[in-house]
Amino acid sequence: MSSLTVTPVAGRIGAQIAGVQLGGELPAETVREIRAALLRHKVIFFRGQEHLDEQGQVAFAGLLGPLTTAHPTVPALSDDSPILDLDYSHGQKVDRWHTDVTFVDRPPLASVLRAVVVPPAGGDTLWANTVAAYEHLPRELAELVDGLRAVHTNQFDYARIAASDNPARTREYAEIFASTSFETEHPVVRVHPETGERSILLGDFAKRIVGLPGDVSATVIRLIQDQVTQVENTVRWHWAPGDVAIWDNRATQHRVVHDFGRQARRLHRVTVAGDVPVGIDG
Ligand code: SIN
Repeated sequence: MSSLTVTPVAGRIGAQIAGVQLGGELPAETVREIRAALLRHKVIFFRGQEHLDEQGQVAFAGLLGPLTTAHPTVPALSDDSPILDLDYSHGQKVDRWHTDVTFVDRPPLASVLRAVVVPPAGGDTLWANTVAAYEHLPRELAELVDGLRAVHTNQFDYARIAASDNPARTREYAEIFASTSFETEHPVVRVHPETGERSILLGDFAKRIVGLPGDVSATVIRLIQDQVTQVENTVRWHWAPGDVAIWDNRATQHRVVHDFGRQARRLHRVTVAGDVPVGIDG
């Protein structure tokens, strides 16, 4: 009998899991249950994981699959670490709905995010269920998106981070963006490789719809994104230090709520390697 309790925290997405101390030594059955909850609820939350340090987070994430590098362009927490240090205290702003790293051919399968320092109020994270979003599209709109493909690029997005008040970091990012850009094409409707569900694959790295003029493309992306991020498709998490969230990056978008000014907020993210998104026609 399972020792985990899985409690949904919103109607269409998100569940809190209790009864487990995360780490690299979990029994295979527990890992299977965590994975099953992830596939069903799209994002899962664990409170009270203060025991987890950097190594423990990496070891736990490794139970879900092979890890990616911390990020294709943003420097890792330290040399060779798979941890991306999301430290917003320098005034950076990454506050748009996105699916992680969709500008590469194989975006991550899942992300494991651990709260290290959180503001006393504010700095929540929102997730949207992109499967529910597809299921609730008006039929005419679903027919339109089914055949679309989109170009995803990192070219503009991380440049926004460079508008930071930390001169050393600004220089570092400027060098990275001058030399490293990614661009790839994905279907707008992705078939989930494990559940077979259809989901919408767009978000802030999707810059244009293939074959449409720029202004029409922007309108179509906005139209679909408005459907994805309808409040009914979302869940909002208020962080406490030691919380861990895991999301299925093949079935969600997310964004931080940037309402905490210059208060410290620091989270560590590790990503599990994914595969090439496949559309309805294979
Ligand atoms: C992310 O975009 O992966 C992190 C979200 C957050 O900092 O809340």
